[in-house]
Amino acid sequence: MSSVKPALIVRESEINGTGVFADIGFSAAQVVLAIDDSYVVDHEHPVPSGEEEHCDYLEVGKTVWMQAPERYINHSCEPNVFVRTSGGIRLVLALREIEAGEEITYDYCVNGHGDVVWTCNCGAARCRHAIHSDFFHLPLNLQKEYLPLLDEWFRKERRQEIENLKTGTV
Ligand SMILES: C[S@@+](CC[C@H](N)C(=O)[O-])C[C@H]1O[C@@H](n2cnc3c(N)ncnc32)[C@H](O)[C@@H]1O
Ligand SMILES: [Zn+2]
Repeated sequence: MSSVKPALIVRESEINGTGVFADIGFSAAQVVLAIDDSYVVDHEHPVPSGEEEHCDYLEVGKTVWMQAPERYINHSCEPNVFVRTSGGIRLVLALREIEAGEEITYDYCVNGHGDVVWTCNCGAARCRHAIHSDFFHLPLNLQKEYLPLLDEWFRKERRQEIENLKTGTV
């Protein structure tokens, strides 16, 4: 009987708690994971107690309680994946070639909003240490670098600020 090797494994991370790791190699732009956004938080479907850190804050106030394994993806200031919606499904895509064994990380500030400041433990050479959740609080050079990674809903919601960034009127 043949079996398919799982692409990802969930285990303890040096960055924080539990993380997601590549169990196979991925090439740049390859789909690493399709995100399950089926649990939309509302009055009838509240966030389970203590699960706030496993929520994703999306367009027009939409909050999703993330499922496994994506709920365990940690942040890095030197990420190897990003998220892009395609055909209504949010896909985690490789930013570059990823080797088996590497932790899968994205930069939480890409498509990030809000006013939360937290301390990063990613260990990357260009770690920003004090992380403000909003994309437009990133250093300008990083905002420009990350522009192509922004998801469609974020581009729509923050159209004017993105335009200002492109035209240099910031
Ligand atoms: C979506 S969870 C990621 C999975 C988490 N490691 C766990 O064990 O449940 C997001 C939370 O993980 C932690 N986290 C993720 N990336 C981090 C980082 N680079 N530095 C410090 N904490 C991080 C923060 O507490 C954050 O609120
Ligand atoms: Zn960092």
